[in-house]
Amino acid sequence: MYHQAGFERGFGTFPLKGDELATALITALDTGYRAIDTAQFYDNEKDIGWVLSSSRIKRTDLCITSKVPVNHFGKDEFVPSVKQSLDDLQLDYLDVLLLHWPPADGDIKPSVEYLLEAKQAGLCKHIGVSNYTSGMLDELVKLTDEPIACNQIEFHPLLDQRVMLEASNRTGVPLASYCSIARGKVLSEPLIEAIAKQYQRSPAQVVLKWILQKGVSVNAMSTNANNIQSNYNILDFNLSNTDIARIDTLGSQQYRIVDKTLVPWAPEWD
Ligand SMILES: NC(=O)c1ccc[n+]([C@@H]2O[C@H](COP(=O)([O-])OP(=O)(O)OC[C@H]3O[C@@H](n4cnc5c(N)ncnc54)[C@H](OP(=O)(O)O)[C@@H]3O)[C@@H](O)[C@H]2O)c1
Repeated sequence: MYHQAGFERGFGTFPLKGDELATALITALDTGYRAIDTAQFYDNEKDIGWVLSSSRIKRTDLCITSKVPVNHFGKDEFVPSVKQSLDDLQLDYLDVLLLHWPPADGDIKPSVEYLLEAKQAGLCKHIGVSNYTSGMLDELVKLTDEPIACNQIEFHPLLDQRVMLEASNRTGVPLASYCSIARGKVLSEPLIEAIAKQYQRSPAQVVLKWILQKGVSVNAMSTNANNIQSNYNILDFNLSNTDIARIDTLGSQQYRIVDKTLVPWAPEWD
């Protein structure tokens, strides 16, 4: 789904709400973003619904992703939770519905079954997961033949995700990024600054292009109109293989933002 032209660059919406969300999202849509990433947990689906309902963009030109929170993974809670997201977003269907996290007990089967039920009920066009480990991906593709749109994970140059790239190749489940610019931390890396200068691009453009050239679709959030626009305008240049390899070396820092101190129910990462 995200490899469809235009949908490889998603606009992230966490932790935006209210007027700040509306202003940023309207700027993103005016810039050309058509893929929007939210989650019920972000508590901004009503705000997004309001913006989308006032927009003239055709529904079929949009790719709206939302996520079911772990505390709604029960048989009686799952589908009503998705319907609540749809009501709040003022949509009839989601383009992509993700399981936001693996369940704390690691038993993915029940929530995957509820996800498949939601798809069969027409609540979403595509299904996917987020924050799955490589082992969970292997298990997932044994549980269903349904195509999986993505595993959305933390992905930026300061974190070595080679194991997850290998798992993606092995299972055929594409990766999508979050914290794509490491919430800004990667932008002051001297190597990124030097490569940005070399290509006459911003550090963020270099980082986001590095992600795309890894075959990973991008989610990036910004409230700043200049950043929103420059983060989107990354298709008209390519990094050389040499420069991609130079950026790869930063992964040895293993800088992870979303760890167990931030999210206690996070799995043991690969
Ligand atoms: N599945 C999950 O568990 C999960 C977890 C986290 C996030 N997400 C999703 O992924 C999206 C992206 O991740 P994220 O928002 O956490 O992190 P991010 O995109 O790495 O960083 C966002 C921050 O970077 C700044 N920024 C953006 N573009 C910039 C640029 N060109 N130059 C300088 N600074 C820039 C923004 O500030 P300004 O506003 O000033 O530009 C903002 O503070 C989220 O919005 C959310 O939709 C999913």
